[in-house]
Amino acid sequence: MKQKSEQQIRTSKQLTYVLLGLISVLGLVCLYYGSTSAPGLRRSDDESSGFDGSDPVLGTFGRNRDFDDLFEDQELNPEVPKSIPICDMRYSELIPCLDRNLIYQLKLKPNLSLMEHYERHCPPPERRYNCLVPPPKGYKIPVRWPASRDEVWKANIPHTHLAEEKSDQHWMVVNGEKINFPGGGTHFHDGADKYILALARMLKFPSDKLNNGGNIRNVLDVGCGVASFGAYLLSHDIIAMSLAPNDVHENQIQFALERGIPSTLGVLGTKRLPYPSRSFELAHCSRCRIDWLQRDGILLLELDRLLRPGGYFVYSSPEAYAHDPENRRIWNAMYDLLKSMCWKIVSKKDQTVIWAKPISNSCYLKRVPGSRPPLCSSDDDPDVTWNVLMKACISPYSAKMHHEKGTGLVPWPARLTAPPPRLEEVGVTTEEFHEDISWRGEKHYDAGHMAS
Ligand SMILES: *[C@@H]1O[C@H](CO)[C@@H](O)[C@H](O)[C@H]1NC(C)=O
Repeated sequence: MKQKSEQQIRTSKQLTYVLLGLISVLGLVCLYYGSTSAPGLRRSDDESSGFDGSDPVLGTFGRNRDFDDLFEDQELNPEVPKSIPICDMRYSELIPCLDRNLIYQLKLKPNLSLMEHYERHCPPPERRYNCLVPPPKGYKIPVRWPASRDEVWKANIPHTHLAEEKSDQHWMVVNGEKINFPGGGTHFHDGADKYILALARMLKFPSDKLNNGGNIRNVLDVGCGVASFGAYLLSHDIIAMSLAPNDVHENQIQFALERGIPSTLGVLGTKRLPYPSRSFELAHCSRCRIDWLQRDGILLLELDRLLRPGGYFVYSSPEAYAHDPENRRIWNAMYDLLKSMCWKIVSKKDQTVIWAKPISNSCYLKRVPGSRPPLCSSDDDPDVTWNVLMKACISPYSAKMHHEKGTGLVPWPARLTAPPPRLEEVGVTTEEFHEDISWRGEKHYDAGHMAS
């Protein structure tokens, strides 16, 4: 009797193991297919293998060990994977699809005036490096947020060119083993905080707060430098996506990311930025060195696509204030273009001008037929973005958005749990939204229930 029950226990245990094994295998299979069929992660464009972001070296790296030892003596460090080699040190800053050398080697001839050389060009399979990108020599565990807003280890980003070039603008200062960020930018030498306050005053927001009671939450900063504007917005409860190419200023985004500021390498070139329409409440360009007038205003029209109804464009650049003939000419042309796009100047002070895009289609509908830039055709989906060429046309609002005259979004943070109106446009009801966001809680309950 006793023996039999032991056997039963053993069999049921074995069953459990088999079941657990099956579940794990299923899980892995799901993960695999999930990752290969995820939108935006096209197989043909997947440079991963060696570069998938996971870092088996760093993952097991103890605080007190010398990083370089790990590489010098792999025998003693079995945690260093043998199957994936470490790339040569000269690839320590390799960004596979943004590799200037590859462009030259493949003789791609990107159009420099269109900034195509700063756009993504992924290597064909035989040109991919199957190795782990090594950290720079002397790499240290990064300084943690929030201290990292103001200082990072120099060894982690061994570039000091910007500190010299921008010394008068207080972008960054080399200070022994560290690089400090006093919070300045080309346009705001005195620090981003004062500049942010000035913008809130220009917009006459309550209590001089740029987040305007939660109505401004998502900001796009183009030509962001080391992203100090975005860094200082965080404490105002505003989250900025800071964008810059890897250009003559070296990799500014590398500094921004080391500081812990949301940012990405990108450029307003020929392809849409990878965000759906109506994603941002405010776009910012201070001395961002973008020629907004090129190609029938295609770059301003891309910003127009990205801005929400009533969204702002903050522009601080010599054209907005300098009075020499060349800057006047650019200013007048920009003024005319934005007027025909139905944008209005909300405020202009000192060296900054703030425009707002319309909150509904009314102004577009009042334009004389044949006006330029044209409205985009009705079969253009303003929300598809991956590898889609920009178009020199205005993305009008959907019938519903037009009717609502605004975003219909509630302010942050209530927005987190309130259904955004655009969900209805893609056929998700309020009930489905609430079911979806309460799912987590229920599952936790289930898990707890099962354990007890
Ligand atoms: C680059 O693009 C511009 C604008 O479309 C065009 O005028 C010029 O001819 C192009 N240059 C080359 C080398 O293709």
